[in-house]
Amino acid sequence: MANEGVNHGRRRFLTATTAVVGGVGAITAAVPFLKYWEPSAKAKLAGAPVTQDISKLEMGQMLITEWRGSPIFIVRRTKEQLAVLPSLDALLRDPKSENTSQQPAFAQNEFRSHKEHPELLVLVGVCTHLGCSPKYVGELTPEPFDPNWKGGFFCPCHKSRYDMSGRVFQGVPAPANLPVPPYRVVSDTQIVIGVNPEGAA
Ligand code: FES
Repeated sequence: MANEGVNHGRRRFLTATTAVVGGVGAITAAVPFLKYWEPSAKAKLAGAPVTQDISKLEMGQMLITEWRGSPIFIVRRTKEQLAVLPSLDALLRDPKSENTSQQPAFAQNEFRSHKEHPELLVLVGVCTHLGCSPKYVGELTPEPFDPNWKGGFFCPCHKSRYDMSGRVFQGVPAPANLPVPPYRVVSDTQIVIGVNPEGAA
């Protein structure tokens, strides 16, 4: 009987030890995975907001910066470029920007921009057809690809056309408007791409 008591106690000790060792093993095994899952510094940097100086951007001009590996178009639109936009609605695939995946809520308007800064257009410069980068053609003059051209973006790859708000025309291969990224206007000379305006979702 005495031996049985010793054996039970030893068995319990071994069981407990095994459980602890097993637990340590599980934790040790998990650490490399946790490290592996953590995004690298390069990936964090790639997704970080980008501050862009727009002080030298003149009316009608476009500058290109980069965010998350994509070209970002920033245009300071002229009064003429803005004035023509409502007249194009009947020619566009999604004139009211109802495809909500293509812009943040604050940009769901005909200018696809902040209400306080309608002249500033910020777009991800990647064609929604096959991903080429469209050309900026800002003049409101006839073009070989469109005799009624009123300014916008033209993708020579397969001839998709977008207006000066990045809204896609009907009858072209691109299925959706150019995306508007989240962005915040800090001042007349600076914007931050990658964050929504304060108070916006
Ligand atoms: S990639 Fe732009 S039209 Fe095909």
